[in-house]
Amino acid sequence: MKQLMVSNMSKLVLIVTLSSLLFGYVLGIKECTNRPTKCNETDRHQLLSVNSETSHYHLTPTDDSAWSDLRPRKILFEEDERSWSMMYKKMKISVGYSNMSGGFLKEISLHNVRLDPESKHGEAQQTNLEYLLMLDVDTLVWSFRKTAGLETPGNPFLPPSWKNWENQWIEIRGHFVGHYLSASAQMWASTHNDSLNEKMFAVVSALSACQDKMGTGYLSAFPSEHFDRFEALETVWAPYYVIHKIMAGLLDQYIFANNAQALKMLTRMVDYFYNRVQNVILMYTIERHWQSLNEETGGMNDVLYKLYTVTGDSKHLLLARLFDKPCFLGFLALKADSLSGFHANTHIPIVVGTQMQYEITGDPLSKDMATFFMDTINSSYSYATGGTSVKEFWSDPKRLADTLQVDNEESCTTYNMLKVARNLFRWTKEMAYADYYERALTNGVLSIQRGREPGVMIYMLPLGPGTSKNIGVHGWGTPFTSFWCCYGTGIESFSKLGDSIYFEEEGNVPGLYVNQYISSSINWTSGQISINKKVEPVVSWDPRLQVTLTILSKEQGSGQASTLHLRIPIWTYPNGAKTMLNGQVLSLPSPGNFLSVTRNWTPGDKITLELPISLRTEAIKDDRQEHASTQAILYGPTLLVGLTSGDWDIKRGSTASLSDLITPIPASYNSHLITLSQNSGNSSLVLTNSNNSITMENFPKPGTNASIHATFRVVMNDSSSSVVDPKDFIGKSVMLEPFDFPGMVVAHGANTEGLQILNSGSGINSVFYLVAGMDGKPGTVSLESASQVGCFVSYQSGIKLSCKSGSSDAAFGQTASFVLGNGVSKYHPMSFVLKATTHHPNHHPPLPPPPTTSSHHALPPPPPTTHHPTITSNHHAPPPPPTTPATTATTTTHHHRHHAPPPPTITSTTHHHKHHLQPPPTTTSSHHAPPTITATTHRHHL
Ligand SMILES: *[C@@H]1O[C@H](CO)[C@@H](O)[C@H](O)[C@H]1NC(C)=O
Ligand SMILES: *[C@@H]1O[C@H](CO)[C@@H](O)[C@H](O)[C@H]1NC(C)=O
Ligand SMILES: *[C@@H]1O[C@H](CO)[C@@H](O)[C@H](O)[C@H]1NC(C)=O
Ligand SMILES: *[C@@H]1O[C@H](CO)[C@@H](O)[C@H](O)[C@H]1NC(C)=O
Ligand SMILES: *[C@@H]1O[C@H](CO)[C@@H](O)[C@H](O)[C@H]1NC(C)=O
Ligand SMILES: [Zn+2]
Repeated sequence: MKQLMVSNMSKLVLIVTLSSLLFGYVLGIKECTNRPTKCNETDRHQLLSVNSETSHYHLTPTDDSAWSDLRPRKILFEEDERSWSMMYKKMKISVGYSNMSGGFLKEISLHNVRLDPESKHGEAQQTNLEYLLMLDVDTLVWSFRKTAGLETPGNPFLPPSWKNWENQWIEIRGHFVGHYLSASAQMWASTHNDSLNEKMFAVVSALSACQDKMGTGYLSAFPSEHFDRFEALETVWAPYYVIHKIMAGLLDQYIFANNAQALKMLTRMVDYFYNRVQNVILMYTIERHWQSLNEETGGMNDVLYKLYTVTGDSKHLLLARLFDKPCFLGFLALKADSLSGFHANTHIPIVVGTQMQYEITGDPLSKDMATFFMDTINSSYSYATGGTSVKEFWSDPKRLADTLQVDNEESCTTYNMLKVARNLFRWTKEMAYADYYERALTNGVLSIQRGREPGVMIYMLPLGPGTSKNIGVHGWGTPFTSFWCCYGTGIESFSKLGDSIYFEEEGNVPGLYVNQYISSSINWTSGQISINKKVEPVVSWDPRLQVTLTILSKEQGSGQASTLHLRIPIWTYPNGAKTMLNGQVLSLPSPGNFLSVTRNWTPGDKITLELPISLRTEAIKDDRQEHASTQAILYGPTLLVGLTSGDWDIKRGSTASLSDLITPIPASYNSHLITLSQNSGNSSLVLTNSNNSITMENFPKPGTNASIHATFRVVMNDSSSSVVDPKDFIGKSVMLEPFDFPGMVVAHGANTEGLQILNSGSGINSVFYLVAGMDGKPGTVSLESASQVGCFVSYQSGIKLSCKSGSSDAAFGQTASFVLGNGVSKYHPMSFVLKATTHHPNHHPPLPPPPTTSSHHALPPPPPTTHHPTITSNHHAPPPPPTTPATTATTTTHHHRHHAPPPPTITSTTHHHKHHLQPPPTTTSSHHAPPTITATTHRHHL
């Protein structure tokens, strides 16, 4: 969310407040500044330290004449606008309550869905459960108690720095606690974990005591003075944003955990804010209220519309309506794409609120606005991940090629876009929304946790070449010292992974939509059956999605028939697809449709689906011809990222199919990965590929760049024998392929120089006999050159090939023996090798000097002409070892289609290399091991 860091600016505040008041008076509601109320462009620019690319906060006045015919302005903005009671009456009359929700697909309660704990989604949920349980109740509510003037047992959140958004000096403190109430309610429904139930109940009780103490209905971790500033159009950081989180949390505690006290607290809060907003409108004007909405207010409209469906109290409906932001929704109503320059996550929740409004009132305009919004995001502002935003803002439509960087796709925006998509699906049953949901969930939610570490998540998903999740303004957060907005939405996302897998349709023959292929089981009450769905993990070497649905049980005596609607995703294809019901082949509709099977189901009935997965490329949303070759590579819904360094081109001739250029890494290869180390004293050094020559470095932590460079695949000359363990290689003649440079091998020169990485097939000097260690110790091996018998890879002052004569046997044996271990890095099950070429070194201008002392920054030696980077899914590395930080390179892989290599220009190449020279993670950056693969892919050189 937009963060303001303001200090000692009171003079400036005064001046700017006056000018913005004046401004507001002149322009009235036309102004949708998208800026905090008091900051002028210069201030804001400084405060957010955004670059000039995204700081063009244009003032785009709504077309007043068109908008004036539209709601909600029509209802509210008339001569009697100052008359609250008039407005109230009009609202009651004009907004008929038509409860549309009967006509829509219904969500399946999280109480009735259980994720398979072995699945990726089940693990992600469990990791989040552990995090929710790690947080201490007294610490969570500390600032609320302080604000209420109650005793504050326990500790506040530390450290007292602006980096920790829950500490007692941050203006939006309490926002995470609101999310915690939502997340824990949903997690409770998803797991029925009683320890969590106790915890969340204790949080609600503690907050209730705070509300009672204050006595006005107000409930927050900061004093109500923040709202005085908000209403005075003075600088304050998003107080209603926080209130929305607390209100939504209380409502979720009521909905999912049946906590009546939470609902009572919520309605008291709403009464308090109803009075505040009423006062502003009576004392000033409604435009004045709308003007204050330029500061981020989260989903105030959404939670209030939802509350109205519970209470039926028209006060709640009116207040909801007053948080619809006319100057933004107006553009959508006019079907004008004016998103560029708007802060994304300020506005997506307002659209979600409008969707609720449609469900309540049936107003078709609200439906149109949401539909147009989704179309626009999908066609002009979304990346191959399904995500949106650059440094939290929308950039120019269809001009995304030069926005790829470290701060793309704020995680909160993905969380909110999923809500938009899911509602549209429920209304229309259009498969495109389910496909979008799958893509955004797969790439933009599952990827934001670091492996199985509770409470380690990211803020932004980097998409730029050479970036990783570990670098940038934020990098990985920590369990107790971050609490960014995206921590709040993150804990919710991982508490409701069971949502939107299934939807139901009521009727004589009830229907169940099976939308997401996530291993889970469901008690489908209206269908009177329970179902287990098993989804095999998707792998690169077997390009199929395999799903088995089994009817587990049926309600006693039920003769009820029902329909299962199985989604056939847009990314599969008919050739090779297979579906069976109890062994009988079912005919499949084309991809993008549902396979519907109606039956009087009986326990044991089984449906199996086998859907082929293809690799495909997708152009970035950019309408400039010169960016047409910037493409993403997808495998089903999963975006693949490059795991390499350097600068690569794919030249795709007119005939070459993608599967000729991109080949799966076989399942067996993980058992061919080794690490060769030597122990000396307390330290352990490991054979490492350092920029194409071989050195010994400190033994790396898993998940780091260094762990990749210390891992080699053993390639046997005789590939016929099967290998299940690296020890099986002993006695064989082998080559060593660097983990991230498939197609290249370790080789030695004609005499005793150091070892290098060269193209395989470039000579016999890359073949070694892997023999039992010359030191005679168990578990060690030695590498003898096949071309220079008697000469071994040895480590003295450096790594080189040394020949036996001239050294004493024992000493030589030591230097030439290495402990043979499993690779520190492993291939992700969705990994491929990409046939690509590097740019010729001569094309590169001199590089800027390495910025720091790290050897990672050194200029690579002249790269060879062809070898093959690895591409892989951006999810965390596969299980072993369990403490592994997630390996998380993330960047769009660009696909190039030059037919003739264009002459590179100095500027683009320089720009490119800046990306490559991003500092690698340093051990000083965080006490949590930084997982860092520098994924680097191609840039266009036109
Ligand atoms: C905007 O802020 C800048 C920097 O603080 C200041 O110099 C300038 O006068 C302000 N402009 C207005 C219109 O207040
Ligand atoms: C709206 O309709 C749905 C579906 O028919 C029903 O479950 C719900 O209770 C209704 N809500 C209200 C407030 O009447
Ligand atoms: C379904 O209901 C049965 C019986 O009440 C229960 O044992 C099972 O855990 C439930 N499963 C799900 C997915 O809710
Ligand atoms: C709740 O979940 C935690 C973490 O998985 C587990 O250790 C604990 O036993 C669970 N508590 C209950 C009461 O189920
Ligand atoms: C998004 O755009 C693609 C075309 O680029 C289209 O196939 C898909 O249906 C759209 N999805 C949505 C949800 O509009
Ligand atoms: Zn966020």
